[in-house]
Amino acid sequence: MGGTCGFDWVVAHPSGLFEALGLEEGVHYEVVVTTFSEDGSPHAAAMGCRVVSQPLAVLLKPHIESQTARNLLKTGRGAVNVAAPEYIVEAALDLGVVSMSFGVGEVVGAPILCEALAVSEFLVDEAVRDDVWLRVRCSPVSLRYRQAPARPYSRSAALLVEAAVRLSRVEPFLSINRREEALRLLSEARALVEDSARLAGGGRLGLLVSAVRERLYSLERRIPP
Ligand SMILES: Cc1cc2nc3c(=O)[nH]c(=O)nc-3n(C[C@H](O)[C@H](O)[C@H](O)COP(=O)(O)O)c2cc1C
Repeated sequence: MGGTCGFDWVVAHPSGLFEALGLEEGVHYEVVVTTFSEDGSPHAAAMGCRVVSQPLAVLLKPHIESQTARNLLKTGRGAVNVAAPEYIVEAALDLGVVSMSFGVGEVVGAPILCEALAVSEFLVDEAVRDDVWLRVRCSPVSLRYRQAPARPYSRSAALLVEAAVRLSRVEPFLSINRREEALRLLSEARALVEDSARLAGGGRLGLLVSAVRERLYSLERRIPP
């Protein structure tokens, strides 16, 4: 793993999460959550999160069967990584197209994504099971960010993130024999991927679209007739 992931970070107090990153309370953000698995390897997953201010907390809702939920319960720590949409897609579907490298946070030694634009390590305060979800309340203990120029909004990337959300739900539905929901998600994902493909160009985003499309086809083949 890559130490603390370089030196070009601005280090801030975790209470600066709202101001430094321009977050709004109550907004649902998509991030990459990094945790350590039992064998000591870093694990990355795309997750939604909310940040609340009184008291300062990051709220996560990993599926109870997810590796992230298991790791959070076992290790009690992790990191929220603000990253470009390509990393969100990669972390959700493990496509092997966008490479991710990991370092270790300086405050509680949580794994961090080196390619992130901002990282906040956290400690788990409370984890409560709610149906198929684990509701996790975390205390941010560090904050650092890069002063990178803003990239323009890409509809292709945004559509691909939406496709990845749907594809990541297909297997959980199939595992509980909910074929109709799985089919609906695949059909929505297909439309999103095709729209994304039109706008993706031939570079890394184009490769990512192709890999997502392949995943879609392989999931379709697994649907029982
Ligand atoms: C934008 C986005 C947001 C997601 N948010 C969540 C979430 O909040 N909870 C969850 O369990 N899975 C979420 N997923 C799906 C997971 O990233 C995916 O299922 C992951 O492989 C499962 O986590 P694991 O690798 O920890 O097992 C999201 C996927 C995307 C693309």
